[in-house]
Amino acid sequence: MRWKNDPHRYSSASIALHWAMVVLVVGAYASAELREAFAHGSAQRAWLMSAHAFAGLAVFVLVFARLALRAGPRPAIVPAPSRLQSILAAAMHVLLYAFMVAMPLIGWLLVSAEGTDVGFGAFRLLPLVAPDHALADFAEDLHEGIANVGYALVGGHAGAALVHHYLRHDDTLRRMLPWRTKQR
Ligand code: HEM
Ligand code: HEM
Repeated sequence: MRWKNDPHRYSSASIALHWAMVVLVVGAYASAELREAFAHGSAQRAWLMSAHAFAGLAVFVLVFARLALRAGPRPAIVPAPSRLQSILAAAMHVLLYAFMVAMPLIGWLLVSAEGTDVGFGAFRLLPLVAPDHALADFAEDLHEGIANVGYALVGGHAGAALVHHYLRHDDTLRRMLPWRTKQR
């Protein structure tokens, strides 16, 4: 496994983490939205919420590995985008990293303040705070609000990658694909 990005391509570790994160974030959204199809207190709803917490907490752990890998040089985009596009992309990446840190933390705060026991097998998630109804309501609103913003961030980010690939014909997307493709 290659850890360091080279001047033309993200490292295999960065690529693996990026796409693993896509699966986990989509899984977190899907499990949260799907839970509404099941009655409160049902085993299916409880299972989906455990899967939700697991996916979200995995994002929280892996995002720090991603940030560590990002410390080195990043592959340049060929042909180079405009300065404005580069600034917008950098701002979007900062927001995506902030999202990957904040969402799981607020979710963790939410279940702690609710007094909900979250665990997988022998592992139990330590509560961050004592049960607190007002704090739970606040964290729930914040978690839902940022989740809605997250749809726009992820949608805009994925859309921009496709615009680069299909309209600008640069290598933005190819640098992040696990397989090598020819220049379009
Ligand atoms: C990347 C991480 C995460 C994402 C994208 C995410 C996203 C979401 C979404 C979309 C909802 C549904 C909001 C709605 O009903 O409108 C939700 C609800 C919820 N999430 Fe997360 N979440 C994440 C992490 C976590 C974590 C780590 C926990 C707990 C440890 C958690 C606990 C909850 C709970 C308890 C609810 C239900 C709130 C309610 O009762 O309305 N989430 N989340
Ligand atoms: C199908 C969906 C997605 C596609 C097609 C996609 C594509 C890409 C591409 C092509 C890049 C390289 C951009 C560049 O170097 O300027 C990238 C970077 C990035 N993506 Fe995604 N992405 C997707 C979903 C996501 C999701 C769900 C997240 C996290 C919530 C995410 C977070 C990031 C971040 C933080 C970077 C910056 C990497 C760095 O630090 O250099 N992406 N993505």
